[in-house]
Amino acid sequence: MPDSPKTIRRGDYAPPAFLIDTVDLDFALDPMATIVRSRLAFRRNPAAAADAPLRLDGEGLTLLEARLDGEALPESRRQLGADGSLTITDAPDAGILETSVRIAPERNTALSGLYTSGGNFYTQCEAEGFRRITFFPDRPDVMSRYSVTITADRARVPVLLSNGNPDGSGDAGEGRHWARWVDPHPKPSYLFALVAGDLVNVPDSFTTRSGRKVALNIWVRRGDETRCGHAMDSLIRSMKWDEEVFGLEYDLDVFNIAAVSDFNMGAMENKGLNVFNTKYVLASPETATDGDWQGIETVIAHEYFHNWTGNRVTCRDWFQLSLKEGLTVFRDQEFTADQGSRAVKRIRDVRGLRAAQFPEDAGPMAHPVRPDSYIEIDNFYTPTVYQKGAEVVRLLHTRIGPVAFRRGMDLYISRNDNQAVTIEDFVGAMQDASGTDLTPFMRWYDQAGTPELTVEDSYDPATRRYTLTLRQRTPPTPGQVEKQPLPIPVAMGLLDDTGAALPTRLAGENAAQPGTRVLLLDGAVQDFVFEDVPAPPVPSLLRGFSAPVRLKGVPQERLRFLAVHDSDPFVRWDSGQQYAAAFMLEQVARVQRGEAPGFAPALADAVANTLASADADPAFAAEALVLPGEGFLADQMEVADPEAIHQVRRHLRRQIGTHCGAALLATYQALTETGPYRIDGRSIGRRSLRNACLAYLAAAGEDGVALAAAQYRAATNMTDQLAALALLADAETPAREAGLAEFHAKWRGDDLVLDKWFSIQAMSSRPGTIAAVRALYAHPDFDLKNPNRARALIGAFASGNPLHFHDSSGEGYRFLADAVIALDPINGQTAARLIGPLGLWRRQWVERGALMRRELQRVLDTPNLSKGSFEKASKALQ
Ligand code: TRP
Ligand code: ZN
Repeated sequence: MPDSPKTIRRGDYAPPAFLIDTVDLDFALDPMATIVRSRLAFRRNPAAAADAPLRLDGEGLTLLEARLDGEALPESRRQLGADGSLTITDAPDAGILETSVRIAPERNTALSGLYTSGGNFYTQCEAEGFRRITFFPDRPDVMSRYSVTITADRARVPVLLSNGNPDGSGDAGEGRHWARWVDPHPKPSYLFALVAGDLVNVPDSFTTRSGRKVALNIWVRRGDETRCGHAMDSLIRSMKWDEEVFGLEYDLDVFNIAAVSDFNMGAMENKGLNVFNTKYVLASPETATDGDWQGIETVIAHEYFHNWTGNRVTCRDWFQLSLKEGLTVFRDQEFTADQGSRAVKRIRDVRGLRAAQFPEDAGPMAHPVRPDSYIEIDNFYTPTVYQKGAEVVRLLHTRIGPVAFRRGMDLYISRNDNQAVTIEDFVGAMQDASGTDLTPFMRWYDQAGTPELTVEDSYDPATRRYTLTLRQRTPPTPGQVEKQPLPIPVAMGLLDDTGAALPTRLAGENAAQPGTRVLLLDGAVQDFVFEDVPAPPVPSLLRGFSAPVRLKGVPQERLRFLAVHDSDPFVRWDSGQQYAAAFMLEQVARVQRGEAPGFAPALADAVANTLASADADPAFAAEALVLPGEGFLADQMEVADPEAIHQVRRHLRRQIGTHCGAALLATYQALTETGPYRIDGRSIGRRSLRNACLAYLAAAGEDGVALAAAQYRAATNMTDQLAALALLADAETPAREAGLAEFHAKWRGDDLVLDKWFSIQAMSSRPGTIAAVRALYAHPDFDLKNPNRARALIGAFASGNPLHFHDSSGEGYRFLADAVIALDPINGQTAARLIGPLGLWRRQWVERGALMRRELQRVLDTPNLSKGSFEKASKALQ
């Protein structure tokens, strides 16, 4: 047995022994043998133990030379560790260390460190990739000033980019050229970037509010220049928004974005040189859906906002990851909300949180927003750290209000600029700016699990008092059995029986408040007594989803009432969803008893009402029309039943499609686009409403399927084309094969569009899908090495097709494990990220659970498994 990889613990943090003030790097680029020369000005950290050695991380580097203060370092004074590190014994308290190493970017399939894609060079250093480029104390609390010189073949590698501002370029002889970049801001090594190759740029510029002109560039493969307009527009709007809303200005002369098609995640915020997955840059109406369009805006904003929350103020250690990620997601959510419909944005974000983070928090991978330990930090770029982290920031915002929050942000930035800090520093700034004791809030960062919030109420006509009793409980999570109550802000209001808002006055208050107010539940159970209530009210709770909790026990009649009458659009939407979910779960129970699922006329009424008023806000109507998803329903069950859930959902869709057929068709036709194709909030909303109608019509039968086939043929944009093809891919119709074949023929040269072709088939509910997925895995266009393609097939199947993934034969599980085992030696980071769905075995029937565990064990028994996949598979088995 090889040794188990080491667990890193938050409590073991110690400051770095040495600091590096400046880093001068020199790259001689070559695909198979790049030489990296580094010159580090180091000095002992006054805050650390005085006798610790100078230790530099390294991974897979071939050391060519090492010099200390100009002298060759004898082998007796340096040790290369089994982990790849370099340790210098008897290092002076300050000095210059020069190293020269060789690496092979072309062989780097892990896409971490320096690698090639399509013949061009790219880096990815977060979290621990810089050590794959040169020897360095690769941890975020070592912040240095960098200068970078790059030399390469001029013809093959005409563009040479790094962080910061350009600082000269020229001829290097023998067909080679050089460029130098200087970044004036100190930064941690994870923000280093280099991009070089045969790229073209789309230029623009932005003048900051203090009048500095910033050159903007998006760098792409030749031919992709025509698809960068939306990304550039999103960037410019983000820059302006951060000035207006947070007073934060960009701080370099240039801002470069490079797009690459082989990339482990969405994008990376390297200082002055963001690197993006092409998926989050390239868009045209013919190739990108409205969802892609929105994804680009979000990710561009997110990475740009990191310039202050992440880069200027960075993390002390990786346990603090949510310090930058939770806060930056909160900022990008606010940006998007300000660009269009705040209500619809909130609904989408909560839908996403419930689909991904709630199950994570209820499963074997549950961890606090600030984890206590990890084996591989790459495994902790999770929905909990990002999305729940953003919810916790939002909760602070709700608690102290927008004005104090903005003061707190100013204070956070001014206190911590150019430093590597902790979550306490963030909460401390909010506390000082608001004068509110926020110590109890720290529990949100340290306690895993989704709290359950239950409500009871009573009304006393004699005293006209209304008592609302709120109770909270957080279920145990791995390693955290006992849970403490959390401070939960509950935004709420009271409605009378006509749906009108009642002013609220709590016992002890002088005046009634007219609209939404925030109750703070900070114990396990608490009574809130309202005075002067004329009649029994209906409470509207958790408006705007004011805390990431599960609100339970609201009776169905109240949900129906709130879905129609509440003033808060989130509560209206959510009440409709909760109503439908409760009804659907009852039908699942019927199916499990061998009975046929029933139909609720109330659901058809709700659909009819939504359609009747859809014109006011089509995007909201589209959200309201969609039934709760299969994953959301499964997450509400002790033991999931993917087949019964699928059957019930399909049955209800057919019923609604039939009952409301005329109204659905009328709305569908009324929304048919006549004018030119437009991408703005309203047009996007109209398309999503129209496609929601089409989905119901296709569920109802042949006429609807024929309509989908017609839409597929007529579509001139990817949104409508793909929506129709997805419906066909689920149906039994000759139009299915024809459509898929035609789509493939048309788009086989476009990797991002072809990814959609793989995903649609992977998510089909038709019988035989597992075999089809196996066949697609063997398709000549499938490429396991490309993370987008791997996720488009394997990830879409395992996460987006519960019906077939959980096939009782275990074939779905076997396919996933086979794919993970094949991918792990190529790209361990991407392989580990695919394992998640196998971890939910406790929520499946025993027989299925056993099959899932068997596949996890098979992954775990694989020789030379990456430590990331080891951590995921072993934790999943616990
Ligand atoms: N910091 C990046 C973001 O939030 C995400 C990230 C972390 C990443 N590690 C990565 C991206 C590795 C690509 C590859 O935007
Ligand atoms: Zn981020």
